Amino acid sequence: MGSLGRQGCLLVGVLFYLSMAIGAQAQSYPGLQAAFNSWTPKQIIPDKNGRKVQLVLNNSSSAYTGMGSKQSWLFGGIGAWIKLPANDSAGTVTTFYMSSTGPKHCEFDFEFLGNSSGQPYLLHTNIFVDGVGGREQQIRLWFDPTAAFHYYNFQWNNDVLVFFIDNTAIRMFRNLEGIVPNFMYPNKCPMGLYLSIWDGSSWATCGGRVKLNWGKAPFIATYENFRLNGCVAKQGDQASITACQNSKYALRPRNLLGMLRIRQMRQVRRDLVHYNYCDDKKRYNETQVPECKYNVL
Ligand SMILES: *[C@@H]1O[C@H](CO)[C@@H](O)[C@H](O)[C@H]1NC(C)=O
Ligand SMILES: *[C@@H]1O[C@H](CO)[C@@H](O)[C@H](O)[C@H]1NC(C)=O
Ligand SMILES: *[C@@H]1O[C@H](CO)[C@@H](O)[C@H](O)[C@H]1NC(C)=O
Ligand SMILES: *[C@@H]1O[C@H](CO)[C@@H](O)[C@H](O)[C@H]1NC(C)=O
Ligand SMILES: *[C@@H]1O[C@H](CO)[C@@H](O)[C@H](O)[C@H]1NC(C)=O
Repeated sequence: MGSLGRQGCLLVGVLFYLSMAIGAQAQSYPGLQAAFNSWTPKQIIPDKNGRKVQLVLNNSSSAYTGMGSKQSWLFGGIGAWIKLPANDSAGTVTTFYMSSTGPKHCEFDFEFLGNSSGQPYLLHTNIFVDGVGGREQQIRLWFDPTAAFHYYNFQWNNDVLVFFIDNTAIRMFRNLEGIVPNFMYPNKCPMGLYLSIWDGSSWATCGGRVKLNWGKAPFIATYENFRLNGCVAKQGDQASITACQNSKYALRPRNLLGMLRIRQMRQVRRDLVHYNYCDDKKRYNETQVPECKYNVL
């Protein structure tokens, strides 16, 4: 799949910005945004009520705008209503993702790949556990994500991680510990929430063939009405990690993967999938992606 040939660039980009974020002096905000730090305060417009934030990509010499939560969580439900940059958004990548830090990091992400005016966005998702990713899926959306706000969220307990859009399950990742030898599930790594918009010209749109056009800036992503309902834990603080592993969040909700969810994901897989690493036989054999056999819908 051409658009994945540049996958390495994405990984490098995200890690680079994370490490930059940690080194820099961060600015914090009132209201809900008090829960976040930003490393690009000049490109962020918080609203007065602290319910909403706009991330502005408007400076080609600072081609990243982003914020990260002060807290981190292990299990729970984390989401926000998001509206993406309209019209010509080719080359932009707007993100909403959870991540821990360090070489063995965990991460799960929504990444919206912009497109030329009138062409559809692609939603790219990935899951990293213990520093290992390579689990990309890309889907077309069944609505225009630039026309209105939609609710994007993660819910994960000790059994399964599910990605949702407007309460429709689009992707899952089961805990196969005890079933698949050496399987790693994100149940040990507290993760922060990050929001960003950046210049992904090198790979995002049609595999990098369509670049970001700075003449069309500013590109503005708006996030509002966050729901941060998880078990708070801190990376490196084993007591807080153990507490979350034994908390109600590790079990709830018990029916995260009911028949309704399975049906929704079947439909997404049938109608909307553009790329699924599980189907990429050139890239992986069954041994390399053991979860694919168990995530059959
Ligand atoms: C980018 O947008 C921010 C917020 O609107 C503004 O303060 C800043 O001056 C803009 N920068 C450029 C280069 O236009
Ligand atoms: C654009 O970003 C660069 C690099 O971060 C910064 O030095 C410059 O002041 C920014 N320009 C404006 C107008 O904000
Ligand atoms: C997108 O284009 C339409 C039609 O040209 C225009 O009315 C609208 O203001 C544009 N939206 C943005 C965010 O620039
Ligand atoms: C952009 O639009 C083209 C043409 O409709 C489509 O093939 C492609 O998947 C879209 N998304 C990206 C990120 O290139
Ligand atoms: C799958 O690929 C790995 C890495 O290339 C290789 O070591 C392994 O033998 C392969 N397994 C099968 C069943 O082909």
